[in-house]
Amino acid sequence: MKEKLDLILKNGLDEIEKANDLKSLDDARVKFLGKQGELTSILRNMKEIPPEERKSVGMQANVVREKLENAISSKQEKLEEENLISEMEKERVDITLPSKGTKKGSLHPLTRFNNKFMEICVEMGFTVIQGPEIDTDYYNFEALNVPKNHPARDMQDSLYITDNIVLRTQTSNMQVHAMETLKPPFKIVCPGRVYRNDDDSSHSPIFNQFEALVVDENVGLKDLMKMIDTILKRLFGEDVKMRVRPSYFPFTEPSIEIDATCQMCGGKGCSLCKGSGFSEVFGAGVVNPKVLEMSGIDSKKYSGFAFGPGIDRSVMVLNKIPNIKYLFRNDMRFLKQMR
Ligand code: PHE
Repeated sequence: MKEKLDLILKNGLDEIEKANDLKSLDDARVKFLGKQGELTSILRNMKEIPPEERKSVGMQANVVREKLENAISSKQEKLEEENLISEMEKERVDITLPSKGTKKGSLHPLTRFNNKFMEICVEMGFTVIQGPEIDTDYYNFEALNVPKNHPARDMQDSLYITDNIVLRTQTSNMQVHAMETLKPPFKIVCPGRVYRNDDDSSHSPIFNQFEALVVDENVGLKDLMKMIDTILKRLFGEDVKMRVRPSYFPFTEPSIEIDATCQMCGGKGCSLCKGSGFSEVFGAGVVNPKVLEMSGIDSKKYSGFAFGPGIDRSVMVLNKIPNIKYLFRNDMRFLKQMR
């Protein structure tokens, strides 16, 4: 019996050793340790063994079982590891291949200019507000002292949705919204899109403005000019010169137009500035007291000033963009150059 058990152990270990996949390993386990297995049948027939041998045969059989079990489990571990390695080998990625490159986004030149402008204004104590691009005739015109049939409406040749609802032609509508809702003193800026029936290489039906409004006691033209001078220097550099011309807006009195050193030629004179060395950047003025009163602000106690630059022209000049339409087409070839 002892020899028989030795043989089972030897054959079992042999077959376990030879098993080269999990299936044949399991076959070996069934053959030697399974219910109908060789070792099990010896243990089942213990009563046929003479009593004096039973104990030692039993002990030996247990040792054999243990050895076979250990051999199976370590072989199983080994086979599983080999499987994993070959799986990984199959899924191998060649990390030395050159990459396709990641596509990095970047801010639109208008957004960059807007952000810079807002940053400067916020540092000066302004609050940034936003408001409707579709507004009533009242906010866009009427409350800004531009009554129906006023010739100033002609200049803005507006896009109407109904008789009374208009795509705002200027961010100045936000002056009225601010005056109606905020208690003076306040300083607000509002960047935003505006719409006019205009279309050529330097005009687009959609363009971008900035509205700044300060309402306080005893503020006037001097404060306005000082502030604009500071902003222009921050935007275009310390060397920028400003030029002030009288102008007319129904909602400011007096009204002025601010020109700054042409950023294309640096003031030498070029085709863009028609040789003058200056280009127009801001409409501005002291808020007409009538406009303050219409929005419920006591014009005896408070005064105000406002300015509203169009920003597309500046972005075009600073980035040497020949046609305003490029700013709105979202052509990747253009945007990549603007990074
Ligand atoms: N809204 C005016 C325009 O679109 C500019 C402006 C703003 C003028 C604020 C005076 C004060 O031309």
